[in-house]
Amino acid sequence: MKLTIRGAQSRDLPGIKRMIDVYIAEDYYSLAELEALLRDDRYLCYVVTDADRGDALVSYFIAFLSTLDRALPMLHVSEKPEKLLAYPDDTLVGVYKTSSTEKEYQGLGICSSFIRDLEPVLRERGARLILATALRPLGREVPMRRIFERNGFDAIAEIPRPWVDMYLYCPYCQRHHCICDAVFYMKKLEDTEGEHGGE
Ligand SMILES: CC(C)(COP(=O)(O)OP(=O)(O)OC[C@H]1O[C@@H](n2cnc3c(N)ncnc32)[C@H](O)[C@@H]1OP(=O)(O)O)[C@@H](O)C(=O)NCCC(=O)NCCS
Repeated sequence: MKLTIRGAQSRDLPGIKRMIDVYIAEDYYSLAELEALLRDDRYLCYVVTDADRGDALVSYFIAFLSTLDRALPMLHVSEKPEKLLAYPDDTLVGVYKTSSTEKEYQGLGICSSFIRDLEPVLRERGARLILATALRPLGREVPMRRIFERNGFDAIAEIPRPWVDMYLYCPYCQRHHCICDAVFYMKKLEDTEGEHGGE
């Protein structure tokens, strides 16, 4: 296993789409939407490939920069959670949007390294917070829970059935109107600066 991380390119998009179909929900993103993300400089899209398997795509990570008021609806959060009330609508935030790792490569720390390594990039670009909506597959625990907790994120809201109005086949609840719930996470980037003796 010889893993390499790099920015996603157009040629990676069919592989990313296939992983999204399998691990998130069928057609959660179209190829055209993924193409548009790659051209959008607010988006950060990375892949991990395995040189020992002909550079096969084994993981991807999609994040973006936004203002708080625009990010919340994109994260299926209809009401500003109490922990965010102190932040004005135009606060710049980083959003960890979507990620999957191929089954044989799960548990090796790939997703965790994206979560850690993108943090300074988002801070550098002015984000004060990182936000994420994490799927709770029906009847199971949130796969991202320990990853977020280990990296200083707090669960600040429960989001009941955020995807129920979309027509998408969910591989977890096996319905076309997904009845899985989600947990909303946040991390304040200012705190981390303080911990490292920033100011
Ligand atoms: C969740 C996922 C992205 C994590 O990627 P990864 O590269 O395996 O992550 P890491 O190796 O950095 O972290 C592994 C941790 O993920 C958690 N985890 C991974 N898969 C899990 C699962 N199916 N159920 C519960 N926890 C899971 C565990 O906490 C594990 O840490 P531990 O072994 O110390 O308990 C990956 O397992 C995946 O693609 N799963 C299927 C799709 C999915 O659930 N995506 C998230 C949608 S928001």
